[in-house]
Amino acid sequence: MVTNKTKPMNIKQLQSAIHELKQAAVNDDSLVDQKHQTFLGKKGKFNLLAKKILDLPQADRKKAGQLLNQLKSELESILTQSVTSKTLQWIDLSIPGNKPLVGHLHPISQAIEEISRIFEKIGFTRVRYPEADWDWYAFEGLNMPPNHPARDEWETFFVDVPANPEYGKLVLIPHTSNGQVREMERLHGQPPIRMINIARCYRRQQDATHTQMFHQFEGLVVDKGINIQHLKGTLDHFASQFYGPGTKSRIRPFHFQFTEPSFEVDFSCHICQGTGKVGKNKCRFCKSGWHEVGGAGMVHPNVLKASGIDPAQYTGFAFGWGVERTYSLKDDLNIDDIRLIYSNQASFLTQF
Ligand code: FA5
Repeated sequence: MVTNKTKPMNIKQLQSAIHELKQAAVNDDSLVDQKHQTFLGKKGKFNLLAKKILDLPQADRKKAGQLLNQLKSELESILTQSVTSKTLQWIDLSIPGNKPLVGHLHPISQAIEEISRIFEKIGFTRVRYPEADWDWYAFEGLNMPPNHPARDEWETFFVDVPANPEYGKLVLIPHTSNGQVREMERLHGQPPIRMINIARCYRRQQDATHTQMFHQFEGLVVDKGINIQHLKGTLDHFASQFYGPGTKSRIRPFHFQFTEPSFEVDFSCHICQGTGKVGKNKCRFCKSGWHEVGGAGMVHPNVLKASGIDPAQYTGFAFGWGVERTYSLKDDLNIDDIRLIYSNQASFLTQF
């Protein structure tokens, strides 16, 4: 026959139940409020155990009362300790807070701003022209008729849209020199002109010093009596402003279809200090001690004519340099692969 009568308990069983309850309280890692509820709440484990005192023989109840009182204060101290240790785990007031990440301009945007300021201070006006432009502006108006071999240099991306009957095919500009033709056209062939055109350019090239998308800045000055000295003076001014005094620059004879005479413009390399060597090896960045930043020259009379300017009255100079290349030459930078600039690696970009 089954009865509902509670089994009588002896003091030893109570002692072992007390021991188990203490262990359970120590091992329980739930949140403090919840733990308090489980062990010392109205219907908690302590009260359930305390009720068992009635199952003990009368002679053991006094001792059991003492044991239960002791258990209660031990449980309280276990809970207090866990409040302290949990609090320490959650909030360490000595740890500095997590600062939200603050963004900044991309290094190339910073360089563009600096370049613009340098030229604006000497009277150049910043202009912007299309990044996808017609063949006429990118080539033909620059004295490079269709099928001229000089065009090969520009590794051009053509846009797959119908050609314009007057201006030819659409290209992603391979250089900012389209801005020369556009600016002369905008001013209806009426100098003076002093422009700085900064834009994204595109070429089918990719290595440590070339990216498929890059930036150029193009200067154009047209007026009466402009000569090579004005060009060299502008070049030297830029070098001292952008790199600091002491930067060496040089111009070398070269050929561009749209300038005559034409030059390549170099600045000394900061990695090998212009020696061309790092230890016994060739400098991987420049190979020669000099870094080519771009081209320059006196505007070709055919280009002036194509834009409605009389070359008998006016002369001009122009230059076009790579922003990435120019920027990576700065003294405090060690960018030996310009592809890093566009790698989107936060560890790289946050240094600027
Ligand atoms: C030109 O693009 C001429 N339009 C420059 C010019 C302007 C000459 C006005 C005369 C008068 P070039 O192809 O050399 O020239 O390019 C100029 C500079 O652009 C290079 O020296 C380099 O600094 C940069 N550049 C060219 N291609 C890339 C590329 N793929 N990636 C990064 N920079 C490049």
